[in-house]
Amino acid sequence: MKSDMEQQSATMPHGKCKKQYPNVILPQRGRGFFGIGIEYPRTAANIGTLWRSAHIMQADFMFVIGQCYKSVRTDTLKSWKHVPLFEFDSFEHFHACLPKDAKLVGIELDARSVPLTTYRHPQRAVYLLGSERDGLSAEALEHCNDVVQIPGEYSLNVSAAGSIVLYDRLLKNGSFGEACGSVGRMESAGR
Ligand SMILES: C[S@@+](CC[C@H](N)C(=O)[O-])C[C@H]1O[C@@H](n2cnc3c(N)ncnc32)[C@H](O)[C@@H]1O
Repeated sequence: MKSDMEQQSATMPHGKCKKQYPNVILPQRGRGFFGIGIEYPRTAANIGTLWRSAHIMQADFMFVIGQCYKSVRTDTLKSWKHVPLFEFDSFEHFHACLPKDAKLVGIELDARSVPLTTYRHPQRAVYLLGSERDGLSAEALEHCNDVVQIPGEYSLNVSAAGSIVLYDRLLKNGSFGEACGSVGRMESAGR
């Protein structure tokens, strides 16, 4: 008989144990594809944190514009092994390499931003976040098909903002299945 500790852990090929959580809900893959990245990120820690979220939320790729990434401790899942990272020298370079028929979605507190709450995510989306200090460049904003904002008086940490948008995509696209749908139905039925 296995102990609780043994049941919650799986032995990895390198001999280390990876914690397994009970009763987890695994997101289902939806239609289309999506990637997320940051324009001129200033800290590797934020890239690592966003990469970890991108991995868990099943993004197809990550990217950075104007920065090379060195592995950091905030990416505890070693997401670089699972979610490919593309590195671009400039916005122009990045824009020229966008996947066919993908929409570029800026994530920014901007005059033209629409609220994320009612936003319908494109099937093929590339989400772009701005730098910690300066936000998205005017060039990037000009080329975005849509710009979305997360409601709130102040700006969030860049990787937190990206994680919220990815979660919103999965939630609205039904990637959490019945586990979430039933909660929504119960609450509205009670009103
Ligand atoms: C710390 S913020 C940049 C703030 C910058 N100093 C400014 O005042 O514009 C870094 C990035 O996080 C994202 N962000 C933060 N809060 C956001 C929000 N409420 N809605 C949408 N994006 C947000 C944007 O991509 C932003 O460029």
